[in-house]
Amino acid sequence: MVERSRRDVLVAGGALGAVGALASAMPAWSWSPAGSVVGEGAGLDPKYVWDADADPVVAGIIERGETDAVNKLLKKWTKNGQALPAGLPADLVAFIEKARRLPAWTDQAKLEKAVDFNEKRGLYLGVSYGFVSGMMSTVIPREARAVYYSKGGADMRDRITKTAKLGYDVGSANAFQPDGEMIVTCVKTRLAHAGVRHLLPKSIYWQKAADEEIPISQADMMVTWHSLPTSVMQNLVKWKVPIEPAESEAFLHSWQLTAHMLGILDEYIPASWDEANAQAAQVLTPILAPTPEGIKLADTLLGLASFIDGTVLTKPILAALTRYTLGEEIADWLQIRDTPFWDEVFETAWEPFVAVREGLLSLEDAPGILQKSYWAFDEILRLGVLFLLSGAKFPISIQIPVMNNPN
Ligand code: HEM
Repeated sequence: MVERSRRDVLVAGGALGAVGALASAMPAWSWSPAGSVVGEGAGLDPKYVWDADADPVVAGIIERGETDAVNKLLKKWTKNGQALPAGLPADLVAFIEKARRLPAWTDQAKLEKAVDFNEKRGLYLGVSYGFVSGMMSTVIPREARAVYYSKGGADMRDRITKTAKLGYDVGSANAFQPDGEMIVTCVKTRLAHAGVRHLLPKSIYWQKAADEEIPISQADMMVTWHSLPTSVMQNLVKWKVPIEPAESEAFLHSWQLTAHMLGILDEYIPASWDEANAQAAQVLTPILAPTPEGIKLADTLLGLASFIDGTVLTKPILAALTRYTLGEEIADWLQIRDTPFWDEVFETAWEPFVAVREGLLSLEDAPGILQKSYWAFDEILRLGVLFLLSGAKFPISIQIPVMNNPN
């Protein structure tokens, strides 16, 4: 596919200088497409590439005032193998029919293995997606601003449930099979992102805060992608959760496919964990920073437990979990208060807790502090699972946004 980047369009319009200056906040792109799932590519800087297939189609729908009607029809489309409902605009149908096809490099055996991994490690995955990736997203400045000033920022509960749906779907047994829902979830998310690209630049609040003219570039997408599988796997390794190499690769594969189905170009999708870690060190770690929007979102997320379950876990425990998983500096950026007791509990007892759960250590031989805190850790795992299940509980339909956050 020849990807016509927005850069070409901007060059033609003479606007590249301004956008280039704005985009300079991100480090220069030097990751080679040789390390990607397809091993080659044009090597365009992804800061200047958006979604050439989805963006014009969704812009047209919004401009023609068809968004509500399209969203209503798309609600009926829930299963990967299901025919599209009648009545959708022809260009949207053409887009979806192409976008729903799995790439040639899909490996069904790996997808099956990924199911085993998700079943075995679902407890830790829920905690990692919900708390590690979720909190990390608040220190990704462009994502924090985009979320805060888009419609989703006005209703975080709704947004969290929709995001949980993606986390639930990617881990479900039939995720990419005809009776699964992950392809639908990804394609709808791709449409939602295209809608954000069209609408958010019109928000005066976003314009004032943003350092880019069009949100959700391919570079931004990869940054967020790394906050999910790459960070999750780094944590599981740090916590010494035993993982078979084939399962680790299979988990990566399910996320490589997710990236493709979300409209990320193959040449930017890392082929291995080594490549993923290298790319994350280049694009994710250096850009993490606090923003007023991220600080507010983080505070809302710390009340996550009450979204899911009524407040079973108190904020201090989730605050300590954040400090433990994301580190002192990020916790301080987010103005998360020290909770000396719980901070120490996580430092000294979380890894032994994992070892006890995995049958690698007996509770009697574990540090005394774990015996006092075991219940809290168990609650955290339970909450992580509930977070993922919340994505399956309601009839959720990811939609093309019709407006920005009015506040
Ligand atoms: C919407 C996931 C990257 C900003 C969504 C939704 C999902 C999702 C599931 C639908 C939920 C909803 O409508 O609230 C992802 C994943 C990404 C990614 C898995 C990367 C792998 C990004 C990036 C940004 C972003 C890089 C911004 C820089 C947004 C916004 C919405 C959205 C603003 C719409 C919220 C609204 O309804 O107003 N995303 N996203 N996303 N995403 Fe993303």
